[in-house]
Amino acid sequence: MVPTYKYNPVTPELVAMLRDIAGKGNVYTDAEKLETYSHDETDAAVYGHSPEVVVLPQSAEQVAQVVKLANKAKIPITPRGAGSGLSGGAIPEYGGIVISLEKMNRLLELDRANMVAVVEAGMVTNDLANAVQAEGLFFAGYPMSLQTCVIGGNIAENAGGGKAVKYGVTGRYIIGLELVTPQGDIVQLGGKLVKDVTGYDLKSLVIGSEGTLGIVTKAVVKLIGYPSSKGDLLVLFKTPKEAIDLVPVILSKGLTPTSIEFMDQLSIITSCKYLNESLPYENAGAMLLIELDGNNAGQIEMDLIDIGKLCEAKGAIEVYVAEDRNNIERIWNVRRNIAEAFKVSSPVQSLEDIVVPCSRIPEMIPELERMGKKYQVQIPCYGHAGDGNLHATLVKDPEMPMDLWKKNEDLCLRELYQVTGKFGGKISGEHGIGIKRREYLKDLIDPVELELMRSIKTAWDPNNIMNPGKIFL
Ligand code: LAC
Ligand code: ZN
Repeated sequence: MVPTYKYNPVTPELVAMLRDIAGKGNVYTDAEKLETYSHDETDAAVYGHSPEVVVLPQSAEQVAQVVKLANKAKIPITPRGAGSGLSGGAIPEYGGIVISLEKMNRLLELDRANMVAVVEAGMVTNDLANAVQAEGLFFAGYPMSLQTCVIGGNIAENAGGGKAVKYGVTGRYIIGLELVTPQGDIVQLGGKLVKDVTGYDLKSLVIGSEGTLGIVTKAVVKLIGYPSSKGDLLVLFKTPKEAIDLVPVILSKGLTPTSIEFMDQLSIITSCKYLNESLPYENAGAMLLIELDGNNAGQIEMDLIDIGKLCEAKGAIEVYVAEDRNNIERIWNVRRNIAEAFKVSSPVQSLEDIVVPCSRIPEMIPELERMGKKYQVQIPCYGHAGDGNLHATLVKDPEMPMDLWKKNEDLCLRELYQVTGKFGGKISGEHGIGIKRREYLKDLIDPVELELMRSIKTAWDPNNIMNPGKIFL
């Protein structure tokens, strides 16, 4: 990758100033530590890049002081949460300073009267979910990787995940933000408010901006009551197409499952092997994992029966009602570990997260099969079918020469994105553009939209120091 932007190097004097700001032990320059902060969950060999220095601030004021220094010295900054991203958003492609929010991980306030939690951006999402659940409350902006990811990263990517069919994505639950701007000012956007039309909705602009408009240091998170009942169905189908065809049928009945997750056979087998787990996959070309939740156990049971009947009428081989929580958790664990399992079994791959209107999702499956044959790549597929969001994953055959893989991967991605666009879809539903997809985005996005995005970036960050090169160059 030829660097597009020019920055100044981090000098020993600057490192000394960073130590004054954040404390000696919270500034790393040794090679081993820098390596840890040089990649996310994308392939480090392809996308990784070392920072020159890593800072672990403990307050918004410290973040602001670091940003002020960097802006003045024209040094790039890369904000980082848990580094669990899948598009290269937290990779310091231009070196410079990584600001890791890992030490800003506290739950600052649980305000029941307003049904909000106020949290620091580095709080592990799972810790937040558990802390509020202990009070009978629910953070419904649930991402699939909740065990590792942090709330600041979820906000940067506007993460989706397993429960979006019913509850929507992270952004729906973020009603206030504290942001350190690229100039190093601290600003409060939104607040503990249900309604707010006081000028532009800058909070929503920041959510999903992949760390390019500033560093989120604090968030006001909307909570709801924890649903008292849940029910799950695991439905087996002969072919992926039959499984996916059911998705718009279920949704159009007005039933609102919490999740409709799809897994094809290769995804199930790969995850089961990885976990040393077993599901009844031998004859199933694909499965749907459907969850309902709410406060009326009887209603949930009736809806599950209705969905089960619909599936049977459309040719499902088997409908399992998962009876005990232990079994349900085992099945969900298989689903949650598919991405990791493919990373281990097929490290050379491209994990995609295309999104189409739900009504068009059945058309995607034959297209994936066609493209797989055309470009000689396997394209296992799983994901949040109920949101139209599929993790089609291009996997390299070990026998294929690397040069040919790179060429075919590129052509296949281009065609995949074009087909997605033709169906009214977008190239990323939850993992973002980052570094990984920016080359493709520029050819697919309306030039007017791209220009609007660029002008926002220039207005917010005239020196282009805040996570440069992400989304677009
Ligand atoms: C998942 C991640 C890859 O859904 O988004 O498993
Ligand atoms: Zn996902």
